[in-house]
This record gives sequence, structure tokens and C-alpha cells, in this order.
Amino acid sequence: MTYLNVYTDSDSPETVLTTEDPAEIAAALKEIDVLLRHWAVADIPAGAGQEEILEAYRDEVARVVAEEGYTFVDVAQLHPDDSADWPERAAGARQKFLNEHTHDDDEVRFFVSGSGIFYLHVDGKVHAVLCEPGDLLSVPANTTHWFDMGTTPDFTAIRFFHDDDGWVGNFTGDPLSSRIPDFDTIVAGRR
Ligand SMILES: [Fe+2]
Repeated sequence: MTYLNVYTDSDSPETVLTTEDPAEIAAALKEIDVLLRHWAVADIPAGAGQEEILEAYRDEVARVVAEEGYTFVDVAQLHPDDSADWPERAAGARQKFLNEHTHDDDEVRFFVSGSGIFYLHVDGKVHAVLCEPGDLLSVPANTTHWFDMGTTPDFTAIRFFHDDDGWVGNFTGDPLSSRIPDFDTIVAGRR
């Protein structure tokens, strides 16, 4: 289930909203032009690859592609393992989009499993959206945001793009993300 926290973007950020209520979350995100939808979670075996995952959500993916004109869809996943380089890979992946940035394309993610938090910095506030299985979040192009997958990343997500070159982050240099509670803190504080 989605979990939303909204903070001010001041030097000492304050929490102005905490909710798990789907209607309240949808309304708060609609105000900042961010679309959150929910799909029924398919039964997919652990370790499934991209083709199997996309097949399980074939109808939903086709509908979104038709509606929004996406030209490229793939699956990104990261799960803890016992390899010696896991801590380094986990930290590297987490760090990549942990600072505030924008993209020229929409950032659209459907969470098949696991979770991650999108932080949307709009109009003086930060909406921290904890996405969980079944959540499809669409962040419009040029929205200032960052993403935290936590210190132990564990997720599988379907990604939608308008441009098959993928997309790059345009970093703003704003250190705001260091002042807002991170993934681990928000998850630990959830009741
Ligand atoms: Fe991003």
C-alpha cells in the first residue's frame, strides 16, 4: 500500500501530512500533476526475468503505452545477494539518483515487487511517495525529484520511456535531499 509523507522544503523541514489513505494520496499528488494508479499484483515466481514479468502485465502495459505514447518498456530489478560486491553495487545504485534532478522525459515506474521512495519537490513542498507492489507512479518531465531505494535495495519495477535512448538526470545541485528523511528512516518510522 502506498505511503505518503509531505514535508516543507525549509532549512528544518517539517512534516505537514502523513497518510496511507488512497483517496487522500491521489488528491495530494493530483495537485502537483503526479499520477498514481494501481494494478492488481500478478503472481510471478521469484527470479522471473524481464519477458515473464512483462507478459504477466501485458494488458496493463499495453493500455498505458497506448494512452501515453511510450515507445520503450523494460524491467529494472535489484535484489540483495551473497556476492562480495553486493554492498558496493547497492550503494552505487542508491547513490545514482539520490540527489535532486529532473529528466526531459516522464519517469514512470510500476512496482512489481519491493519498494522505493520518490521525492517530488514542487511548490515549496516535498512529497515522499513510498511505492509498493501494484503502484504505478508517473512523474512528469522536468519535475524536480529524487529517488531512494534504501541501503538494502530490493525491488522489481517496469519502466516506461518515450525515448529508447533511456534518460539522463539533470542535477540541480540543491542539497535538499540530505535534509529530508531517507528511505530507511521513513520505513522504520511507519506505523
Ligand atoms: Fe529521476
